[in-house]
Amino acid sequence: MDIAKKVALITGAGSGIGAAMAHRFTTDGAEAVIVTDIDGSSARTVASAIGGEAFDLDVTDEGATAAVVSEIEERHGRIDILCLNAGIATDGSVDALNEDWQRTWDVNVMAHVYATRHVLPGMLDRGNGYIVTTASAAGLLTNIGAAPYSVTKHAAVAFAEWLSVTYGRSGIKVSCLCPMFVDTPMLEAFAEHSDHMRDWVEELAIDVDDVATAVVDGMRSESFLILPHPIVLDYFQRKALDYDRWISGMQDLNDRMSGE
Ligand SMILES: NC(=O)c1ccc[n+]([C@@H]2O[C@H](COP(=O)([O-])OP(=O)(O)OC[C@H]3O[C@@H](n4cnc5c(N)ncnc54)[C@H](O)[C@@H]3O)[C@@H](O)[C@H]2O)c1
Repeated sequence: MDIAKKVALITGAGSGIGAAMAHRFTTDGAEAVIVTDIDGSSARTVASAIGGEAFDLDVTDEGATAAVVSEIEERHGRIDILCLNAGIATDGSVDALNEDWQRTWDVNVMAHVYATRHVLPGMLDRGNGYIVTTASAAGLLTNIGAAPYSVTKHAAVAFAEWLSVTYGRSGIKVSCLCPMFVDTPMLEAFAEHSDHMRDWVEELAIDVDDVATAVVDGMRSESFLILPHPIVLDYFQRKALDYDRWISGMQDLNDRMSGE
């Protein structure tokens, strides 16, 4: 799919990857880019920079999501591209608080269900639409020190995969964006784990504009997996080829990153 003349709704677009996608979709000639974020003022700043529209939207609020979707459909007649991008990075182990697990589940997974539930009917009526999920390499592999994040990102990949299998033949394209580290405010949450982790994160972090380029390229080729860090494909293949060996390698990495 080409971005030109499309109507795109992006969640969590007041910052980082979502903001970069909003800028890139605008440059590529989108008819309308709708920038939504729980932080309405950051959404308005991005929207005013690109000549887009802003909505203050907490993606865990299904009623508010439905209202935004119907307002956009009324104004523009359709939503061609839905980017499920808002996410939170919750670290911790089995001891992470239940409320932190729940919040992470709500933002990183249920919000994808809510927005899709309200955007998909219009896409199916038209026999055309594109859903881009921002998951993470953590959804294919794992994220050292962050159980809630890893688990919910796996679920986000699973939901995107299920959508593609179920609706792909009905004209709905789905891509699942799985970067490793990207230079955004979220990076600090990953780096906090240890000094080793900080060094590793800083070494691997890429720029948001490179991620946005990978997204438009992936949408053009209609690829399910969008991997701005090509090494992730290599790791994913190694995991599938020999799961036990992969776990053992990740245990070594876990020891190193925890400073043992
Ligand atoms: N930065 C990375 O290294 C990295 C790597 C892999 C995947 N990701 C994923 O990329 C996506 C974007 O993250 P980012 O790195 O740009 O971080 P970011 O913190 O810059 O942006 C996340 C945005 O989501 C918004 N948000 C948070 N909770 C929300 C809610 N309930 N409703 C609406 N908006 C909400 C925040 O206000 C923020 O603007 C996330 O899903 C994240 O998990 C990031």
